[in-house]
Amino acid sequence: MDIKTAETKLANPQMDKEESLDLIVSLNKLLANYSVVYQKLRNFHWNVVGGDFYDVHEKLEEEYLAGAENIDEIAERVRVLGFKPLSTMAEFIEKAGIKETNADHTAEEMISAIVQDYKTMIKSMTEVVKQALKLDDYGTDFMVRNMIIRTEEKIWMFQSFLK
Ligand SMILES: [Fe+2]
Repeated sequence: MDIKTAETKLANPQMDKEESLDLIVSLNKLLANYSVVYQKLRNFHWNVVGGDFYDVHEKLEEEYLAGAENIDEIAERVRVLGFKPLSTMAEFIEKAGIKETNADHTAEEMISAIVQDYKTMIKSMTEVVKQALKLDDYGTDFMVRNMIIRTEEKIWMFQSFLK
């Protein structure tokens, strides 16, 4: 992300365009991570097999639907802040810390992978909150903090499934 991607006036008058770049980079990184996780959730939803099929199949759908809403919120927040979100699959895969996987896993392995990815997501979300607070950007802070709370709750639930 460089300054050339800054294109419109910032919605938040307290925010300086150049000073906002670290925040935008962290939001775009979160967007990329979330987009890879979203596809992984769909992959696992489609391909899970075994005795836990109904539970896991249904829960993963719940997760990717919630994920799609969060992805949209993050991307549109980048627009609100006056910048452009990453928007192609190639950019998401390049920028994401989270990696794709194939479909050949047990239900337990799938849930373990999601727990690991959600922990990575919390780190990515925390970075956004830190950058937002440096700029007194409480709108982004509030939006992403709520995502952290929900993701932490899901980690607890998935870890309980694995016990
Ligand atoms: Fe489905």
